[in-house]
Amino acid sequence: MKGRFITIEGVEGVGKSTNISYIERFLESRDIEFVSTREPGGTALAERIRDVLLDKVESSMDPMTELLLMFAARKQHTEELIKPALERGKWVICDRYTDSSYAYQGGGRGLDSKIISKVEKLTLGSFKPDLTIVLDLPVKKGLARAGNRGELDRFELESEKFFKRVRATFLARAKTHKRYHVINASRSLSAVQGKIGAALTCLPALRSTR
Ligand code: TYD
Repeated sequence: MKGRFITIEGVEGVGKSTNISYIERFLESRDIEFVSTREPGGTALAERIRDVLLDKVESSMDPMTELLLMFAARKQHTEELIKPALERGKWVICDRYTDSSYAYQGGGRGLDSKIISKVEKLTLGSFKPDLTIVLDLPVKKGLARAGNRGELDRFELESEKFFKRVRATFLARAKTHKRYHVINASRSLSAVQGKIGAALTCLPALRSTR
């Protein structure tokens, strides 16, 4: 793979969108070509799966069904968009990826992480992001920010306890590998973006162009 694959993770309301815009400007200013995408979604088929996943009408969805739909959307997105872009030398910025499945379907819904890991291997093999930025904020603060956004989807209707388990899972996973950078999103925007810039600069492709 010639490009670099960057994922942004975190609980609702941590400021992913604003910081994704910052990453886009950061790469533009260095003449690095990129594609910006999101999960669940990113391709026509995966966006249709997203509609089902977020629809609050689906209140009886079984956690394993939810997991498999997340990975069905992800497999399509990975093969159709992410890998071809990386092969062409483009960088890919993705709003959520597999870590969200461990955090939401694992931590949140209570599915065993070993089962998630099996589904991950089955669908993606050893394909992983090069850098994962976890924006971290106390759940109450995040939910207060996200609450101002209008109609809530099926996940946003979950309890504070659910999101506390999601947050704890992101933080626990972040300790396991050096591809994770946890950034305290309670700090000022310029402080957060300074940290994101530093994480991006650590990526080998950026180091070698300097
Ligand atoms: P989205 O509107 O993108 O939420 P946010 O703005 O908070 O990123 O909706 C995506 C929702 O899907 C979000 O609540 C998290 C959830 N999700 C999972 O539960 N598992 C996953 O694997 C992914 C990618 C997302």
